[in-house]
Amino acid sequence: MREALRERGEPISRLGYFCAPFRPAGGPLRDKVIKTYRGGRDPELLEQLARRHTAYVEVLTWAGVRLPETRFLILNEAGYLQPVIVQDALDEALLMRPQIEAADLPGALALLESAAASIADFWARVAQRPERIGYHPSIRNFAHDAEGPIFFDTFPPLIGYSREDMGRLLLRFSEAGLVRSMGAVMPERIRAIQDEWYSPAGTIVGLIGSAVRLRPEDGAAILAWAREFAANRLEPGLGAEVLAELDRPPRLPAFWTGMRRLLGLEGKPNV
Ligand SMILES: Nc1ncnc2c1ncn2[C@@H]1O[C@H](COP(=O)(O)OP(=O)(O)O)[C@@H](O)[C@H]1O
Ligand SMILES: [Mg+2]
Repeated sequence: MREALRERGEPISRLGYFCAPFRPAGGPLRDKVIKTYRGGRDPELLEQLARRHTAYVEVLTWAGVRLPETRFLILNEAGYLQPVIVQDALDEALLMRPQIEAADLPGALALLESAAASIADFWARVAQRPERIGYHPSIRNFAHDAEGPIFFDTFPPLIGYSREDMGRLLLRFSEAGLVRSMGAVMPERIRAIQDEWYSPAGTIVGLIGSAVRLRPEDGAAILAWAREFAANRLEPGLGAEVLAELDRPPRLPAFWTGMRRLLGLEGKPNV
């Protein structure tokens, strides 16, 4: 692992908020994606994070979410602790965002339907769990193969943290110094980023909104599909919530959009 980190090449994506994943060119980890997160000298926070990452992978799997094999490590470099996720690499052709871009309209809607149905199933399963559990099933966090959606973004582990504590994690692990200094003066703005991830309707509307942004010419068709899906495939309470949200144009929270623009991440939104 240390060798792979020393020789790290170009990241496979620069659009992440928390990490810039890379894939080693050779060696024993060549079939893995390695994601490094902002390290520090706060062992209690990081060990809790490691435990919760394990719990989160378990709960996702229990709830029927397919994940590539994913491990969380903490490398200790003379007391400086570096969190690392090692995950089986997925074929780039399977990533959902380029598939939705390249597909014809019926193909794109079929991908969205498959993702949205899996999101609803996830929330139905975890509703009975006592912990505070979230999910960030954005188009960019999915791949899709013949068997259906594969979710791969396990960081931060959205289990067991209060809203307050998750707000602190969002700051602690942001790669961007700008976000961290903004958060110091406007912590609620950063804290609010997570709200969509803890809302079943929010995650489904978020998926629809990013699909519309990816294929603006098909916006009307995507919204028509979404209304039909919400009315017929979701349980009535959730369906009504999604329908109400769809009555206004889907959008990201304005602050988050503005922040991404400032960070230069706006081209292909990681949503
Ligand atoms: N296992 C993987 N296989 C292939 N590409 C991946 C994998 N994991 C992440 N990526 C790529 O890296 C991007 C960011 O990774 P992600 O885990 O979502 O990090 P972040 O939490 O920073 O969003 C993804 O959108 C995808 O393009
Ligand atoms: Mg992601």
